Amino acid sequence: MQTLTTNAATSQFIRSCPRPLGLVPTMGALHEGHLALVRRARDESAFVAVSIFVNPAQFGANEDLATYPRDMERDLALLEAEGVDLVYAPTPEEVYPRGFDTWVEPGALAERLEGASRPGHFRGVATVVTKLLNVIAPDRAYFGEKDGQQLAVIRQLVWDLNLGVGIVAVPTVRDSDGLALSSRNAYLTTEQRAAAPVVYRALSEARSLWLNAETDAESLRLAVRHILEAEPMLDEIEYVSVADAVSLVELDQVGGSAMISTAVRLGRTRLIDNVMVGNVPQEPDSAF
Ligand code: PAJ
Repeated sequence: MQTLTTNAATSQFIRSCPRPLGLVPTMGALHEGHLALVRRARDESAFVAVSIFVNPAQFGANEDLATYPRDMERDLALLEAEGVDLVYAPTPEEVYPRGFDTWVEPGALAERLEGASRPGHFRGVATVVTKLLNVIAPDRAYFGEKDGQQLAVIRQLVWDLNLGVGIVAVPTVRDSDGLALSSRNAYLTTEQRAAAPVVYRALSEARSLWLNAETDAESLRLAVRHILEAEPMLDEIEYVSVADAVSLVELDQVGGSAMISTAVRLGRTRLIDNVMVGNVPQEPDSAF
């Protein structure tokens, strides 16, 4: 496994690598969710690259950039054990050198949900993902369904800007009690960790109701809220959404498919999760 920190060395290194090349972009502090992406990429690719970069541009001024968990040594050992070929781990100065002045601005899709709670977040994500795709030039890039809106924004980005890379979505990896694995779970106290599975329980209840023919979106939102509000450890419910799975526009009725999602706060920790119902289309153009 090669570890490189500069754009020039990375571009040079991949020039002669076998194809197809699969890229897994991450911010490190790796867990089994990340490793599921890496394993899928390993299964489908002749060459696997993983990027590790805590992207300052996607954190708001009051967010957790300074405290975001980092453990490069452990991450490299995990990736080596998965048979990864290349780790690209640039510094912030390499990605955003002095004079950097061009941003990738996603549209309406990025203004809802996470975008409303975290202004500028998806601009930072779209910009860094575009840069990573340009430096590494993969045939396919792997993203988790855990960040459902991020996945939708990236599919739209690739389609709008003709980036010519296949986007592969990997199902959310959960702990045995249902909590979606996340690097931010490390912030939870024992009591908060014990309460956190309520998020998936609430989303699962809405999915069950839908499977039992409840198609009224507001009833589904209320069902999620009802379960979340019964958990006293939850400090805040930022949103509960039942939205079109591609455009993320809030629905009145769930006809074909939907993403049911929520963001909550447990103390200083923000947790997001989602479930999909129905047949989720893979291409952004199927929405138009
Ligand atoms: P990060 O939070 O490190 O996540 C990297 C990838 O792992 C994302 O595609 C995310 O959806 C996926 N992932 C995280 N938890 C998962 C889980 N429990 N199950 C399945 N997949 C999971 O997302 C980012 O980094 C950044 O925004 C990035 C795309 C790297 C751009 O900076």
